[in-house]
Formats: sequence, structure tokens, C-alpha cells
Amino acid sequence: MQTSRRKSPLLSSVTVAMKHRKNNNLSVFVVVSSVFIFGVFMYNEDVKSIAEFPFSWPKSQEIQEEPSTGTTPVQETLRKDRELPASVGSRTSLEEPQVDQEFEENQESDRLKSSGSKEDEEKIELSIIEEDDVDVELPPEECDLFTGQWVFDNETRPLYKEDECEFLTAQVTCMRNGRKDSLYQNWKWQPRDCSLPKFKPRLLLNKIRNKRLMFVGDSLNRNQWESMICFVQSVIPPGRKSLNKTGSLAVFRIEDYNATVEFYWAPFLVESNSDDPNMHSILNRIIMPESIDKHGVNWKDVDYLIFNTYIWWMNTFSMKVLRGSFDEGSTEYDEIERPVAYRRVLNTWSKWVEKNVDPNRTTVFFSSMSPLHIKSLDWENPDGIKCAKETAPILNASMPLNVGTDRRLFVVAANITGSMRVPVHFLNITKLSEYRKDAHTSVHTIRQGKMLTPEQQADPATYADCIHWCLPGLPDTWNEFIYTRIISRT
Ligand SMILES: *[C@@H]1O[C@H](CO)[C@@H](O)[C@H](O)[C@H]1NC(C)=O
Ligand SMILES: *[C@@H]1O[C@H](CO)[C@@H](O)[C@H](O)[C@H]1NC(C)=O
Ligand SMILES: *[C@@H]1O[C@H](CO)[C@@H](O)[C@H](O)[C@H]1NC(C)=O
Ligand SMILES: *[C@@H]1O[C@H](CO)[C@@H](O)[C@H](O)[C@H]1NC(C)=O
Ligand SMILES: *[C@@H]1O[C@H](CO)[C@@H](O)[C@H](O)[C@H]1NC(C)=O
Ligand SMILES: *[C@@H]1O[C@H](CO)[C@@H](O)[C@H](O)[C@H]1NC(C)=O
Ligand SMILES: *[C@@H]1O[C@H](CO)[C@@H](O)[C@H](O)[C@H]1NC(C)=O
Repeated sequence: MQTSRRKSPLLSSVTVAMKHRKNNNLSVFVVVSSVFIFGVFMYNEDVKSIAEFPFSWPKSQEIQEEPSTGTTPVQETLRKDRELPASVGSRTSLEEPQVDQEFEENQESDRLKSSGSKEDEEKIELSIIEEDDVDVELPPEECDLFTGQWVFDNETRPLYKEDECEFLTAQVTCMRNGRKDSLYQNWKWQPRDCSLPKFKPRLLLNKIRNKRLMFVGDSLNRNQWESMICFVQSVIPPGRKSLNKTGSLAVFRIEDYNATVEFYWAPFLVESNSDDPNMHSILNRIIMPESIDKHGVNWKDVDYLIFNTYIWWMNTFSMKVLRGSFDEGSTEYDEIERPVAYRRVLNTWSKWVEKNVDPNRTTVFFSSMSPLHIKSLDWENPDGIKCAKETAPILNASMPLNVGTDRRLFVVAANITGSMRVPVHFLNITKLSEYRKDAHTSVHTIRQGKMLTPEQQADPATYADCIHWCLPGLPDTWNEFIYTRIISRT
């Protein structure tokens, strides 16, 4: 199907409402009915651990990318802190140790990452003028951006270079961490019926001028937040941008636009015993599904909010729900089926949004689940080891693909976000991300704050991280959807 593509001048009044969340009740139904099959096949390579943690992956991978409790990570941070160059304000950030970059470890709350030189400031002014009259083609509003395919495009992808974005953390810089193949950076998402607009950082920056954009959720949202920083930071000269991590909030500030790109740690969105941004790797996860205000107060009056919660739900079949409250010292809990608890949490979240978000001011996104790739037979590769040997996406769309995503939660999220008075843009990234078995950090990452050793890298069955994604990489595409929506709004 060929679509009518509109050329719209930069500041035209074209509005593109993303209608995708209304699509496809049929597939939602299919998804529901296939859920139980997932339950059977999911993670069955981890037979040993199933008794203890049904639906779990090996403990080595068990979200310990989020450094765990205990003293080691803290000591590690303190030690490395002292090694930081005194002149954090210089342009040497690439040579800086990547310590502060694992958010959870970040004890040095008010350390500011920033760099500068005056001559660069003039460049900004010039470039703004240069780019102001650039036409960007917006997709028609009825186009479903999430149905399409991955196409190889090494001309326009990646959108930025790994070593040109100093703010990337060691968790995601796969090339620097020794990954040999780089083609994973060269895939562009091509919607079937239209095209995503060309990425123009200044266009986005002009839209978020005097505004706050915030990702709220877990380490996958943080992954995406880092990508968003790289999107915008390339056109900002040194010294006019900074990163400040304090407690649960990390703020990337762009001075000349008075804009921020922020990340707020709340892995379940609601209150939980995993809310400590530094010490949250807790096996016995307990949530308070009706309690959100403590977090929510930090999201008020933010202009763009991007939410997600999924990966932390995947350790156990059932979810532990506190009786009472943490503040009162309650410790007793009920175990509730995962989708039931998920619905309660998203209901709490949607009530918060309805009550606190002014849709005239704030645009709300909810991201569907980011999938894992831990069983190579899922994509018919008998020689694979988790995601570790994968260098290309799944391109055969007729191959039935089931990588163990809990689609019951997808259905809940699609339903709730689609039924709200405040419009929520449902970022339907699950399926398109399921094709990207090649895009995970695998063994080219850190674990509990430390780079994997060569021995660990040689043992992907134990150590490969098939949850998080390399940058540049897949989360850039997720951000292109957000970009499209933001620049489409007048
Ligand atoms: C970082 O943010 C915190 C909290 O807003 C603030 O107290 C601190 O001064 C900031 N640090 C820097 C270096 O700006
Ligand atoms: C999400 O996108 C996939 C294609 O990537 C599509 O098959 C599915 O129907 C969409 N679901 C919803 C709820 O929009
Ligand atoms: C892009 O890919 C083509 C085909 O694989 C190759 O010939 C070309 O050298 C590549 N260009 C770049 C810039 O990597
Ligand atoms: C700067 O941005 C903040 C929101 O992040 C806004 O409240 C404030 O008014 C802006 N300042 C100016 C001078 O526009
Ligand atoms: C949003 O703006 C419209 C039109 O300006 C107005 O009618 C409506 O009351 C506003 N809604 C809120 C929640 O302020
Ligand atoms: C695509 O997958 C289908 C189903 O698994 C298979 O029959 C077909 O041969 C595959 N096509 C290619 C080109 O690999
Ligand atoms: C959500 O589910 C309810 C109850 O099953 C249904 O009435 C409603 O139409 C659904 N909404 C969407 C957007 O799918």
C-alpha cells in the first residue's frame, strides 16, 4: 500500500495522532490464547532454577545488571570515585573511568558531568538558523508505525556514534567492551505503510525548549534514556550540557534550551521494596500496588512522561503484595497472579495520570515490554547460546516467533492505556524488538558495576545479558517513535 506522504514545513500545524493503540483487538486475542503455551516453554533451559524461581532466568543474569545489595558495589564506587580526574569539566570524558555511569552505584550525587569551551557556543546560534527551514516529512496520522520490518541501512544508521556520546555508560557501549561485529547498529525500522521522519536533533530540542522530558521505570527505560541523551547531545557544545544523578532521579540538562531529559527509578511504578536506586537487587520482591504518590510527586508537571514496567515482574509466577505498608513496618504479603497484580498496578498508575496530568500540557507515553532472548531455539538456532552468538535480526517474518514474552501483561497494558481519558501513546515496541536477538549487550557489558572478565565473557551461558541493549542500537528506534510524536505536535 502506498501512502500519501505529506511534506510539512517545520512549524506547520500538522498534527499526527498516533492511533495505533486502538488497533488490532484480534491480535490481542490471539496473544491471550497463546499465553499458556509461553508458560510451558519459557525459560525451560533453566530447569534447575524453575523449582525455586519459576519463569526465572539464571541468577547470574537475574537483573543483577542492577548491582545488588551488600557492600561490594558501594566500596567499588567509593574507590573509583577517588580515581576520577579532578578536572571533570574537561573534555576528557571518553577517557574517564565509566564508574559513575551505572546509576545505582552512583553515590556521588552531586557530581556534575560537564565540559566546555566558549568558541563552541557560537556554533549553536549558527546551526539553529541553518536548520530552521528544514522540511521534515511526517507520517500520516493513521499510519501504524509499529508494523513493518527491519531494513539494513548503513548510510543513515546508527543515528550517532558510540564514541561520540560521552554520556553512554559502560553497561551499553558494546564495541568499546569488545564486541567485534557492528552490524547491529545498521538496522532501520521501516513501518509498512509510511516512514519515520528523518532525525533532526535541533527540531526535537526546539520542541522541548523550556520543558522536561522524563523516563520513569526500570533499567530498560534507563537504557532508552541514555539513547535519548545521545540523540540530543550531539548538537550541544561542551559545557552547555550536564548530568546530575541524585537519588532516584538523574537529570541531563541542556542549558541553551533550558530543557532536561530525565530518568526516574521506579521499577514497578508503584511503591516497592526495590525502590532504592542503589540497593534494589532483592530476590523477595514485594510491591504495594495501590501506592504511587511517593513516586508520582516527582513526575508532576513534567511535559513528556515515558513509562514502562515489565522486567521486574518476570522473576516469579506470582507477585508478592504487601499487607499494610512499608512505612508501618509491615512484612506480611499475599501472593497474587502476575497479570492480576499487573492490572492493579496499572490501574493505580492510570488513576494517578488521570488525576495529575493536564493533557494540554503533558504528553504521556507507555512503553510495552522489552523482550529477552535467552533461548536460541526460539529462533531455530540450535548452535546459539542465549543471545550471545547472534549478529543479525530475525528477518523471516513468517517464522513463528515466541521468545517467552508474557503477553498477558501486554494485553493489560494495551487495554488500560487505551481506555483512559488522558490520551496515552502506547509504544508498541514488543514485537519489533523481539526480532532483535542481535541487539543485546550479551557479554559486552558490566555486571555489578564491573566489566566482565575475559573468563566471564567466554561463558555466555552464564554471563550473557540478553535483557539490555547495546547503544547505539534498538532503543534508538524506540526513541524515534517518541521523536515522531513530539515533533508532530504543534
Ligand atoms: C544536583 O541536583 C541536586 C538535587 O537537585 C542538587 O542539590 C545539586 O546541587 C545538583 N548538583 C549540581 C552539581 O548541580
Ligand atoms: C503491536 O505491533 C505489532 C506489530 O509490530 C502488531 O502485530 C500488533 O497488533 C500491535 N498491537 C497493538 C495493541 O497495537
Ligand atoms: C554498507 O554496506 C555495503 C553493503 O554491505 C558495503 O558495501 C559498504 O561498504 C557499507 N558502507 C559503509 C559506510 O559501511
Ligand atoms: C525553564 O524550564 C522550566 C521547566 O523545565 C520552566 O518551568 C521555566 O519556566 C523555564 N524558564 C524559562 C526562563 O522559560
Ligand atoms: C485544555 O484546553 C482546552 C481548549 O483550550 C480547554 O477547553 C480545556 O478545558 C483544557 N483542559 C484542561 C484540563 O485544562
Ligand atoms: C521462514 O520461516 C518459515 C517458517 O519457519 C520457513 O518455512 C521458511 O523456510 C523460512 N524462510 C526462510 C527464507 O528462511
Ligand atoms: C479493555 O477491557 C475492557 C473489559 O474487558 C473492555 O470493555 C474495553 O473495551 C477494553 N479496552 C480496550 C481499549 O481494549
